[in-house]
Amino acid sequence: MLASYLKQTQELFGDELYLNKSNSSQEKNKNAKSDLDIFCEEICECQKCALGATRNKFVFGGGDPQANLMLVGEAPGAEEDRLGEPFVGRAGKLLDKILTAINRGRAKDVYICNVLKCRPPNNRDPLASEVEQCEPYLLKQIEIMRPKLIVALGRVAGTTLLKVDQPLKGMRGKLHDYFGTPLIVTYHPAALLRNSNFKAATWEDFKWIRSILDS
Ligand code: URA
Repeated sequence: MLASYLKQTQELFGDELYLNKSNSSQEKNKNAKSDLDIFCEEICECQKCALGATRNKFVFGGGDPQANLMLVGEAPGAEEDRLGEPFVGRAGKLLDKILTAINRGRAKDVYICNVLKCRPPNNRDPLASEVEQCEPYLLKQIEIMRPKLIVALGRVAGTTLLKVDQPLKGMRGKLHDYFGTPLIVTYHPAALLRNSNFKAATWEDFKWIRSILDS
């Protein structure tokens, strides 16, 4: 995992090694908005994997560039691919309600993006090769934003970021480390739409997330 990360970041960013320091002591980047805009311009025509040929819109991410909370989903779905924004379908609307419940939102201390920036056909799971090509973009977004906490939404986002093969329950409830930034895994909002029994556990997770952000 480390070798592939180093190779990818070197290809993208040259020889300057990026290693995130502990974010709690890190100052926010005052230029995060323009740095993100510039980076988006640089990569939005990406054709590194086959999804570049089938996407309608590149879904870079959106929200508050100064956010301490970065939410990471799996990949854009049909609505996101049509509009170029993350989490704008039914699952996104539920996510917005959850964020309101912790007194946050896309315009207020939350940034939302995905592991993959382009939609896989028929919403299939991301391929390992697609993740390998796309993950450095996420790392660069993290480097620019320096979030205090990353929350991976769902099993696929959790396993692809943590490079583990586990059910969601194995990853939930732990504070993981993602290249120096604390990371929590919780349910994907689409899972809550399918099974409302997961809502109570998700609410526990978001109360924990709020307490970390407020600490
Ligand atoms: N599901 C995701 O994982 N990401 C989106 O942007 C939308 C739905």
